[in-house]
Amino acid sequence: MGQSLDEIAEEALYQRSRAMWHPVAFADDLDDQPMAVRLLDEAIAIARIDGDVVAFKDLCIHRGTALSLGTVVDGGLQCAYHGWTFDSTGACVRIPSRPEGSIPRKAKVQSYAVQESVGLVWVCLEPPAEFPIPSYRPWDDTSFRTVRIPLYDWKSSAARRVENFVDFSHFPFVHAGVLGDPNKPEIPDHPVRRDAHTISFDLGVEEVPNELKGDDVGDGPIQRMPSTYTVSMPYSVQLDQPLGDDRHFQLFMASAPLGRKETRTFSWCSRNYDLDASLDQGFVDFQTVILDQDRLVVESQRPEELPVDLSEELHIKGVDQVSIEYRRWLLELASSFTPGS
Ligand code: FES
Ligand SMILES: [Fe+2]
Repeated sequence: MGQSLDEIAEEALYQRSRAMWHPVAFADDLDDQPMAVRLLDEAIAIARIDGDVVAFKDLCIHRGTALSLGTVVDGGLQCAYHGWTFDSTGACVRIPSRPEGSIPRKAKVQSYAVQESVGLVWVCLEPPAEFPIPSYRPWDDTSFRTVRIPLYDWKSSAARRVENFVDFSHFPFVHAGVLGDPNKPEIPDHPVRRDAHTISFDLGVEEVPNELKGDDVGDGPIQRMPSTYTVSMPYSVQLDQPLGDDRHFQLFMASAPLGRKETRTFSWCSRNYDLDASLDQGFVDFQTVILDQDRLVVESQRPEELPVDLSEELHIKGVDQVSIEYRRWLLELASSFTPGS
């Protein structure tokens, strides 16, 4: 049976994503021992060797054991099975059963490009990477308090997950009484900007009052000032919501394709007001409620992958403009992909 344009484009996009940065772990979770992670169906072992973060294919060159079962020893990662030890470039530097013997030149594990940024470990399987790792202003701004949202895995593509984050017309339905008001479902037009790496727009919607944002909870819907949303290609988004008096609520989310239909998301939630640590859990709990509501609808979407052929689903001009621009860009990436390039 022939493949549809979508199936071809989605597979091309998936392959092209190998040449992009994706988050694989919260940097704080990577302690002095290796950790098994997955990205784009590849099993990867990450570790800190001599202060550097490394990312190796999770497969020892000797007998195929998972390197993530190993131990970080002086100057390298030691395989759990026969103790071969690999330095930060992936080269074998010790074979314990033949300490004096020469080490075969081919005794090298495959390593991937890796970087630590905005509190996350990022991996690119096939550098050079197409887009830079996104920045997040509150991360380096000491006037902000930033808390971690527990990571979550959804049975959807990364693009479906991103599209949900920048979709507003679902608020009054999926998040009725929490974020949106079913009696106020209209969404104002919001012009969408595109630059070399991002899609962004400003939008102020009516929200249910929220004590985490300093609102009086008995009041009716609150008209927010325009928030700025920035999608960093391919799968990260940040939201900067001004609340008045120079108070800002910000969110950062970065999704990574574990596979074609499975996505892991890492998020930070930041504020430059109410900085007391005892308030952190309230912010985390609120996001968790929202995410559970979103997960139910996003995991039900078929196909699980985002159709990048715009004729495949219906769009409402002005309301779905961000999705349209995002899908257009993904299709550009897919259609200019040549395998092996
Ligand atoms: S399988 Fe890793 S050292 Fe033998
Ligand atoms: Fe939502």
